[in-house]
Parts: sequence; structure tokens; C-alpha cells
Amino acid sequence: MKQRLLFLGPPGAGKGTQAQQLAEGQGLLHLSTGDLLRAEVAAGSALGQEAEAVMARGELVSDALVLAIVRSRLENHSGGWLLDGFPRNVAQADALAALLADLGQSIELVVLMELDDAVLVQRLLSRGRADDNEAVIRHRLEVYRQQTEPLIAYYRERGLIASVEAAGSVEEIAGRISALLG
Ligand code: AP5
Ligand code: MG
Repeated sequence: MKQRLLFLGPPGAGKGTQAQQLAEGQGLLHLSTGDLLRAEVAAGSALGQEAEAVMARGELVSDALVLAIVRSRLENHSGGWLLDGFPRNVAQADALAALLADLGQSIELVVLMELDDAVLVQRLLSRGRADDNEAVIRHRLEVYRQQTEPLIAYYRERGLIASVEAAGSVEEIAGRISALLG
């Protein structure tokens, strides 16, 4: 089975839900930059204080900050991993490629989760995280289109993208994803 995975897709597509379940089932490291940043905010660390207002607006926190978090986790881990919510722009994707080259590793598959905007917004509004109000959700979607969506072409050129329809039950979607992993 493929063991070095990226989950890509708009906010609310179900990246975290699917990634957590798959990582648990397969013994992979689940690395969600959003979860790690929220933990820093909750702990009141310097890093968390820097990130909090940016996250509340639905913008991306600085590449340097996110990269430091990812680097320290991947450097100290030997098995498979699943990156969720990272990379978020081309600069982060290039930095990840350099980091993986250093570690002698490579991405085996990028799972692209696709879902209509109306469904995304509905899912997020009913979740109600600190950044899940309508205006911030719209802004996160815009940031996704402008900064993250170019990664679809980036990874397609590298032959790594597999698309998954992200509508349906959590179990149905999990089945579609595991069918891609071989
Ligand atoms: P992040 O935490 O990554 O949030 P996001 O991309 O906006 O995505 P979500 O976590 O909201 O959605 P998801 O796809 O994980 O869906 P989920 O499974 O939760 O980022 C938050 C912020 O942190 C960013 O705005 C930015 O500021 C910062 N940040 C993070 N990473 C960064 C980076 N690399 N660089 C810079 N800044 C960064 O599901 C959503 C809801 O739907 C849940 O309630 C779930 O229960 C429900 N659901 C899931 N699947 C289904 C289903 N099949 N049917 C019905 N409901 C479902
Ligand atoms: Mg998430």
C-alpha cells in the first residue's frame, strides 16, 4: 500500500476526517498543519500567538512557520505519513520537495478530494470551528482557489494526482480512497 500521501482539497472536503481514519488504520503519521497550529494557539505559545489572528481571518500563516512545524515532525519519523492541509501553495510544495529530497523520501500519491462549494459551506457551518462563519469560509475558499489550487497542476505534471468524489458518506469516501492506494 502507498504510505507517503498528501490530501489536497478545499476547506470542508473531509481531508481531516478521512486522513485521521486512514492514518489510524494503517499506522501512518497524520500531519495536519491546521490541527498543529490550533494546538499551538490553544497552548498560547509564541507561535500560536503569531498564528491566531491570521487563522481567524482565513488567511495562510507564513510559509516559514508552517515549514518549521512540518520539518521537525518528518525529520523525527521513520514510517509512512499522510500530510493534510500542507502544502498550501507552490512555495510550500517546493520546500516540501527539498525537505523530502534531504530525507531520501518521496510522495507516492496526492489524493485530491473534490466537492461542490454549496456542500462545503454547509458542512463547515454545521461544524462551527472558530473560523467556520460564513464570511471567513468564503475567504478560505478564495484563498484555496488562488493559492492552493495551482498545486493540482503542479502534482498532475509530476504524475501524482488521483481525484476522489468527496460527496457521500464517510465510509463510501473511505472506500474510494483505499481503492487508490493499492
Ligand atoms: P485547516 O485546518 O487545514 O482547515 P481547512 O483547509 O479550512 O479545512 P478543514 O479542516 O476546515 O476541512 P477538511 O477538509 O479537513 O474537512 P473535515 O474533515 O474537517 O486550516 C485552517 C487554517 O490554518 C487556515 O485557514 C490557515 O490559516 C492555517 N493553515 C493550515 N495549514 C496551513 C498551511 N499549510 N500554510 C499556511 N496556513 C495554514 O470536515 C469538515 C466537516 O464536515 C466536519 O464537521 C466533518 O465532520 C464533516 N464531514 C466530513 N466528511 C463528511 C461526509 N462525508 N459527510 C458529511 N459530513 C462530513
Ligand atoms: Mg482539516
